[in-house]
Amino acid sequence: MKFDTPATTNPIDQLKVIGHPTDRIDGPYKTTGTATYAYEHHKEAPNAAYGYVIGAGIAKGRITSLDTSAAQRAPGVIAIVTAENAGKLDKGDFNTARLLGGPEIQHYHQAIALVVAETFEQARAAAQLVRVEYSKQQGAYDLAKARDGAKQPDDKDAKDKKTGNFETAFPAAPVRLDATYTTPDQSHCMMEPHASIAAWDGDKLTVWTSNQMINWGKGDLAKTLGIPKDKVRLMSPYIGGGFGGKLFLRAEVVLAALGARQAKRPVKVALQRPLMMNNTTHRPATIQRIRIGCSREGKITAIGHESWSGDLPDGKPETAVQQTQLLYAGPNRMTKMRLAVLDLPEGNAMRAPGEAPGLMALEIAIDEMAEKLKMDPITFRIINDTTVDPAKRERKFSTRRFVDCLRLGAQRFGWDKRNPQPGQTRDGRWLIGIGMASAFRNNLVQKSGARVRLDSKGMVTVETDMTDIGTGSYTIIAQTAAEMMGVPLQQVTVKLGDSDFPVSAGSGGQWGGNSSTAGVYAACVKLRELAAQKLGLDPTKAEFVGGAVRADGRSFPLTQAAANGELTGEDTMEYGDLDKKYQQSTFGAHFVEVAVDMYTGEPRIRRMLAVCAAGRILNPKSARSQVIGAMTMGAGAALMEGLVIDQRAGFFVNHDLASYEVPVHADIPHQEVIFLDETDPISSPMKAKGVGELGICGVGAAVANAIYNATGVRVRDYPITLDKLIGKMPEV
Ligand code: MOS
Repeated sequence: MKFDTPATTNPIDQLKVIGHPTDRIDGPYKTTGTATYAYEHHKEAPNAAYGYVIGAGIAKGRITSLDTSAAQRAPGVIAIVTAENAGKLDKGDFNTARLLGGPEIQHYHQAIALVVAETFEQARAAAQLVRVEYSKQQGAYDLAKARDGAKQPDDKDAKDKKTGNFETAFPAAPVRLDATYTTPDQSHCMMEPHASIAAWDGDKLTVWTSNQMINWGKGDLAKTLGIPKDKVRLMSPYIGGGFGGKLFLRAEVVLAALGARQAKRPVKVALQRPLMMNNTTHRPATIQRIRIGCSREGKITAIGHESWSGDLPDGKPETAVQQTQLLYAGPNRMTKMRLAVLDLPEGNAMRAPGEAPGLMALEIAIDEMAEKLKMDPITFRIINDTTVDPAKRERKFSTRRFVDCLRLGAQRFGWDKRNPQPGQTRDGRWLIGIGMASAFRNNLVQKSGARVRLDSKGMVTVETDMTDIGTGSYTIIAQTAAEMMGVPLQQVTVKLGDSDFPVSAGSGGQWGGNSSTAGVYAACVKLRELAAQKLGLDPTKAEFVGGAVRADGRSFPLTQAAANGELTGEDTMEYGDLDKKYQQSTFGAHFVEVAVDMYTGEPRIRRMLAVCAAGRILNPKSARSQVIGAMTMGAGAALMEGLVIDQRAGFFVNHDLASYEVPVHADIPHQEVIFLDETDPISSPMKAKGVGELGICGVGAAVANAIYNATGVRVRDYPITLDKLIGKMPEV
């Protein structure tokens, strides 16, 4: 089915099942330990041997010798995979660094060997006996130092963009801001580590893994191993978090496959937590310079945003200027990205890549500009709102209820009680501040397929290779099929995460919810046609309600359509150029109250509110969970998260959960989420948009702005730890 004209009324609009705050149908499995994660497929892959990954101890250079002889003789050892005995390996289309290093080493903790043994402990013990000698080269690890040599990326999405004449308009503006902000490298830190079990049957490879994008993973695994794609089956039914860290094939899958080939039996590998930060991908650090010029009345006349980030050779930039192209009006505009070569581990997508770090900078800049203008920061945002793409004025937003988010949030949060003068509000030893920031994230749609079966008992089974990374995919897909087929939710079974199922959009870029359910919609339309035909009804008129099919005054039980055998509808939703004609984005506003200890500078968040406009909310409960999770992640980005680079050895020092801090419950006392009632008929027949990434966008700046309001200290370098405040706190 092709979606190339805006949606009109369709069965989803009934809202009998869609739009209800249904509990997650996978919830009981997850909370009782019966959801099978990648490392736990004992029944399907019995007698699996254990693999233990060895990571490189240098960031750049070559292995000069790798002696496995002592390890080979260790108890229980079955095989040791290295680049020397692995056979010829290619590199996946989505990978920047090779997943098995040697002799050349591209980054610290790049996998160089897998020790396979009867038990995990034996594999780990034997791994300590592997002797590796390196010839080390000096690499580049410091973005600030590499900044001047950074180049314009080849990527077509990373081109310089100019509208009007920023270079002349900015210096001519009566009120100007020119400030530089930095965001650090960050790690996804999902609960479930990257883990896989691989089993060969002749030349056929089956892997149970933890991956957001089944079809990308299948393709890249086949390519890496040099085997046909149809010989690979990849399954990922339950995933313990991804955040972009599981978008791509990772080392443990490839090593499990190679280990299983050598061991001639299934092999399971979970990447050790201390390897995760340096072995996998991370959100790259940025340096961002923002210049804004305004009239005295507060109209933006010039806005410029430049971002520097680094990656391995052939890597990509962090697209931190994205939102600045679309969020505010202004005739003279400029955005640029520059990419430096760094020999750190591979930089790549992490929740809301681009906008998340971009808004951490832009939304402090907007707060600073409002202050220069002596204007309320919400008023400043409202008067610079735009209803069209500011660089292409004939292009409208599909929907844009940004100002509604700002106004409603201000009202609900009690913005009128905020003292605009910083450092004035006290509660005992705490200085209290309120801050806000805009939320913005583009809405992407992706082609997505599904198969829906109806049996003689009226049971509906949905099969798609879509994944549920903790987001609620199982539930909203079941809600979609129930709504379309006119059956209760209990009559729907959803099967996900198997490459034998139709190829879906997968979970990424906050497109998963809208796109995958649109694919299920398309397959249900096919199934409805088949069922109506079987019953002798006009498919264009047939209504599916309450377990019955009705048309032209006649009604049959749905079960009758499948009485003589199961019916199967399969289709893929594809998109025309509506996303070119209209700018599709999601909007919101974040509000934060903080308390900062007057004596120690310790910042604590007291309460948070997000107001979101993101199209139809398919399930308010799971959508809310997505947003509060994202707000929590944004709080981490604001106050604690940051990978620390050892500038001599070129690695992330804090590579475990003891030293890379993420928020816990005690850090987040109170969160509220409000969704505006909205449908977007331009986005898909579901009229929904993404929300899982919108929730993190802007949070960091809202916290920073609240800290400024509390203390009068403007911190432009994240995370805002107490050492950046303590020397500058107001006199008491
Ligand atoms: Mo998202 S960072 O595309 O999983």
